[in-house]
Amino acid sequence: MDDLKAKYLGQIAEAADEAAIEAIRVAAVGKKGEIALMMRELGKMTPEERQTAGPALNALKDEINSALAAKKAALADAALDERLRSEWLDVTLPTRPRRQGTLHPISQASEELTAIFAEMGFAVAEGPRIETDWYNFDALNIPGHHPARAEMDTFYMARAEGDNRPPHVLRTHTSPVQIRSMELQGAPIRVICPGGVYRADYDQTHTPMFHQVEGLAIDKGISMANLKWTLEEFVKAFFEVDDVELRFRASHFPFTEPSAEVDIRCSWEGGQLKIGEGDDWLEILGSGMVHPKVIAAGGIDPDVYQGFAFGIGIDRLAMLKYGIPDLRAFFDSDLRWLRHYGFAALDMPNLHGGLSR
Ligand code: DAH
Repeated sequence: MDDLKAKYLGQIAEAADEAAIEAIRVAAVGKKGEIALMMRELGKMTPEERQTAGPALNALKDEINSALAAKKAALADAALDERLRSEWLDVTLPTRPRRQGTLHPISQASEELTAIFAEMGFAVAEGPRIETDWYNFDALNIPGHHPARAEMDTFYMARAEGDNRPPHVLRTHTSPVQIRSMELQGAPIRVICPGGVYRADYDQTHTPMFHQVEGLAIDKGISMANLKWTLEEFVKAFFEVDDVELRFRASHFPFTEPSAEVDIRCSWEGGQLKIGEGDDWLEILGSGMVHPKVIAAGGIDPDVYQGFAFGIGIDRLAMLKYGIPDLRAFFDSDLRWLRHYGFAALDMPNLHGGLSR
C-alpha cells in the first residue's frame, strides 16, 4: 500500500494537465482501478486482516482523491493566471479611429487666406469675441444712435441687475481688432484678423455665428488703388484662377470713407454654387479707406497716416470655392458632410505647393 501511495502521489505531482489527472484517476481509484482491484481481495482475507486492510484502503483512496482534486484546482489556477497574463489589455490607450479626421472647410479656407496675406506681408492679429461696445461700435465711428447698431442684429450680454454700464456684445464683426491692433502696434501696420462673429440672422447664406477676416494696412501715402490691387490679388490667389469677375460697388460704412463693397459673379443653377459664371452676384466683402476718426481712435495721427481696411466673409469664400450651397450645413456637425467636404489635416496650404490639393 505504501508503494501504491508513493506511486500515485508522485504521478499526481508530475501531472501537467487535466487529461493526465483524469488518466491517473481512472488507473488508481476508477471502477477498474488498482484500488478497486485490491478492495476485491478483501473477501479472501480473514476478518482480522480485513479489519485493518479495509480502512487502510479506504484511507488511501481518500488521500489519492483529495490529491487529485488539489492538483486539478492548482492546474486551473495556473491556467487562469496564464490567461490573465496573455490577455492583458491597457484600457487607458486611446481608441483607434476608424478613419482620420478632416479639416473643416472654414479652417481650410482660413489657412489658405492666411497663407496668401502672409505672402503680402500681413501678420495675424486676434481679439476677443466678447467685446465692449466701445471697440465694437464707438471706436469705429458708430455712435450710440447710429442705425448701423440696429442693422447688425447685435447679441447683447446680460448685465447684473443695477449695473448700468453699457453691456458687452458678441462682436458683430472683426473690425474691432483694427482698433486693438493699432493700439498695440502703432503705425505702420499690416494685419489680418480672422475669427468668429455673431449676428441674429438665419437663412441659406446667414448663420448666427459666422467668420470674417479683417484686413488693415496703415502707412504713409496709402490709396484706394493699393486696396483694389490687394483685393484682386487675394481673390485670384484664393480661387486659384487668373481671372475672377469682381464688382466694386460704392457703398457706405461708418468706419471707411470712401467705402466699397465687392461682389463675385456666380451661379446657383441646379442648386450648385459656381463662381465666374451665371448672372448672380454674391457679396463677399466690405472695404474702404479707414476713416480719420477710426485711425485717431486707434491712437495714430490721421494727419500723418492713411490706410485701407476690408472685412471678408470667410464662410462665403468657402461656399464659393468648394461649391457648398447652404451655409447652415457648415455648423450642423454632420459627419457625412464633414467627410465629404473635409480636407486632409496635414496638408498645410501654401502658395508654392498649391492651396487646396
Ligand atoms: N465690418 C463690416 C461688416 O461686418 C465689414 C467691413 C466693411 C470691414 C468695410 C471693413 C471695411 O474693414 O473697411 O459688415
